[in-house]
Amino acid sequence: MREVVHEMFSEEQIKEKIVEIAEQINKKYGNEALHVIGVLKGSIFFLTELTKHLTMPVTLDFIAAGSYGDGTVSSGSLSVDKDLDDEIDDLHCLVVEDIVDTGNTLSKIRKMLTARNPASIEFCALLDKPDRRETQVDVEYTGFVIPDEFVVGYGLDYAQRYRNLPYIGSLEWIED
Ligand code: IMP
Ligand code: MG
Repeated sequence: MREVVHEMFSEEQIKEKIVEIAEQINKKYGNEALHVIGVLKGSIFFLTELTKHLTMPVTLDFIAAGSYGDGTVSSGSLSVDKDLDDEIDDLHCLVVEDIVDTGNTLSKIRKMLTARNPASIEFCALLDKPDRRETQVDVEYTGFVIPDEFVVGYGLDYAQRYRNLPYIGSLEWIED
């Protein structure tokens, strides 16, 4: 079995899209301080590029949570491997995720973080696969809406590989 990556969005297209998202966020928050929470590990490329374009005072924290093992099918249950370092009560929070697929991960993260009384909480995802949604979840800022294909690159992995690709591509498995 061979794996082939077919480019879907170039590094340039991704960067342009991220600037657009940052402009929406800058407009929404003005000079209000924003606490940006990255969902490890998939969001890190997106988060670093996005926050470079934010103009309000920004603080960062990370949570490691997900519903994927080493495969491509969501297990449905959320595991929190690393919690936030800091409390979020009274902070305006923006949770940054690589992709919304079934919606299970973000809806569980939303529930968990909302219970900690932030001043506000919004969600941002670089990619959205709406065809696979199982749980309805509000994502205020979305980059690209994509069909039901497994994608890698720009932080997204398959069995922890491909995260460092500078572009996003769909992964195809070919029988030799
Ligand atoms: P959800 O809980 O099904 O919405 O899954 C969200 C998580 O699944 C994301 O944070 C990704 O880590 C992972 N995921 C979903 N779709 C893909 C994909 O196409 N490529 C790589 N990871 C994916
Ligand atoms: Mg993830």
